[in-house]
Amino acid sequence: MRAVAEPILKLTDVTVQFGALKAVDKVSMSLNAGERRAVIGPNGAGKTTLFNAITGTIPPTSGRVVFDGVDMSRMSPQGRAHLGVARTFQITNLFGRMSVIENMRLAVRGLSPTKFSFFGTDDLTEAQADDVRRALLSSRLDGREHVVVKEMSYGEQRQLEVAMALVGTPRLLLLDEPAAGLSPAERTFLADIIRALPRELTVVLIEHDMDLALGLVDYVTVMQNGVVIVESDPSSIRTNPLVQEVYLGKPHAVVVPGEGNADA
Ligand SMILES: Nc1ncnc2c1ncn2[C@@H]1O[C@H](COP(=O)(O)OP(=O)(O)OP(=O)(O)O)[C@@H](O)[C@H]1O
Ligand SMILES: [Mg+2]
Repeated sequence: MRAVAEPILKLTDVTVQFGALKAVDKVSMSLNAGERRAVIGPNGAGKTTLFNAITGTIPPTSGRVVFDGVDMSRMSPQGRAHLGVARTFQITNLFGRMSVIENMRLAVRGLSPTKFSFFGTDDLTEAQADDVRRALLSSRLDGREHVVVKEMSYGEQRQLEVAMALVGTPRLLLLDEPAAGLSPAERTFLADIIRALPRELTVVLIEHDMDLALGLVDYVTVMQNGVVIVESDPSSIRTNPLVQEVYLGKPHAVVVPGEGNADA
């Protein structure tokens, strides 16, 4: 490994515009391979939209998204998934009447180049079946393969979403509020799962619970009104006056888009 690695993910002036609203406004950021990063900020800051721009769910209006040296700004979500970009969604995205293993099969098929079909048989290759087993093990759902999703706890459902994102052995995993709505015990369990993910996997986590987020990551990006207002390590984030203002809602905390200070 080289001493100074190229970033695995590099965003340059990424903007996502909805009519007059710049939900993401000229965001630039850079992540090293294996880095654990939190993206935090108040509701409507543009965190999910930033994920959408990275995964291609909503391609950026302007700016560049480069993953491992490949400019994927204009690629489809599936093209980006093939490069190794995976995500979980803020809103649960599972088939409740299906079992764990059936949902996992859909995740595998979603990645396969052949046409997606609900009606395929149990046609996972040996390699795909291994991949599924590994993903379930990482998400601590091994042994739960035949449980119907709607009969699982909400915590297990969120674990399954992580497992589905791990199918295909991604190199970048984006987790959009994976612990939202969980009990304290479930949050701790999910945090342990995230912490134990393979070290070479680059993970970006959107999370409103500061303690959870800061305990899991190397570096933190704070967004407000579509712009990055602070980037720093977790210990400085806790004491950063701008972050405190944003979170405690003190007056004069509003950052005007375009005037954000991307430096710590
Ligand atoms: N598809 C869309 N069409 C129009 N406006 C949108 C769309 N998606 C998001 N927005 C708007 O963009 C802004 C940023 O939304 P986004 O969901 O990215 O925020 P967020 O930081 O993820 O917030 P939260 O913490 O509540 O999930 C908000 O004002 C939102 O209403
Ligand atoms: Mg969001």
